[in-house]
Amino acid sequence: MKEPREFWNKLAPRYAKSPIRDEKNYRKKLEVTQAYFKPDWSVLEFGCGTGSTAILHAPHVQHYLATDISDKMLDIARHKTDGAGIKNISYRQGTLDSLALQPASFDAILGLNILHLLQDLDAAISRTHELLKPDGIFVSSTALIGEISVLWRMLIPGMQLLGFAPHVNRFSRQELVSSLTGAGFSIDREWAPAKGSVFIVARKRA
Ligand SMILES: C[S@@+](CC[C@H](N)C(=O)[O-])C[C@H]1O[C@@H](n2cnc3c(N)ncnc32)[C@H](O)[C@@H]1O
Repeated sequence: MKEPREFWNKLAPRYAKSPIRDEKNYRKKLEVTQAYFKPDWSVLEFGCGTGSTAILHAPHVQHYLATDISDKMLDIARHKTDGAGIKNISYRQGTLDSLALQPASFDAILGLNILHLLQDLDAAISRTHELLKPDGIFVSSTALIGEISVLWRMLIPGMQLLGFAPHVNRFSRQELVSSLTGAGFSIDREWAPAKGSVFIVARKRA
């Protein structure tokens, strides 16, 4: 299987052109998230892709740090951000592990369509917890590979061998919730936009 950076770099131009699959639920996730935001907030998004969500969220907060493992995704994101005239997004390449970030420095952290792609879910959740201020929120939206149809699950290894699919983590909704609560989060909001996916707002217990 390809290294994640290489896989996502190759996919970036196509990913940038792909339409949002479920516009109605995407809008709802934006609204729910923005209802938490405050104008003086500092927000981190990891796995930001081509920056589409960052561009929509950034005007609602003071500063938005958008990060991704793929430099090609970030090139597209920077270009779109300049085009949109948004000035308060900084982009940095790296992962939650590799980036030097200040503990307890963010009011909100977003991980959208990324948790199922990580090698170590628990490590990512505990790093997120460390980076949030007390009472800060972690907004995640993820595919639950453990809950999609058996047929799709059977196809994944073949697609990975052919280089058409990245590494995926097969946790269930319950496992994700347990990981969050075990790391010191309480669940503020939990919603299943569709079978095999979940949207969660978790709060760092003060
Ligand atoms: C499915 S895309 C989601 C992009 C965006 N969050 C969205 O919802 O459209 C996954 C993104 O995560 C990035 N990625 C994959 N593994 C990563 C990691 N370990 N750390 C940071 N970013 C990663 C990829 O480069 C890609 O941009």
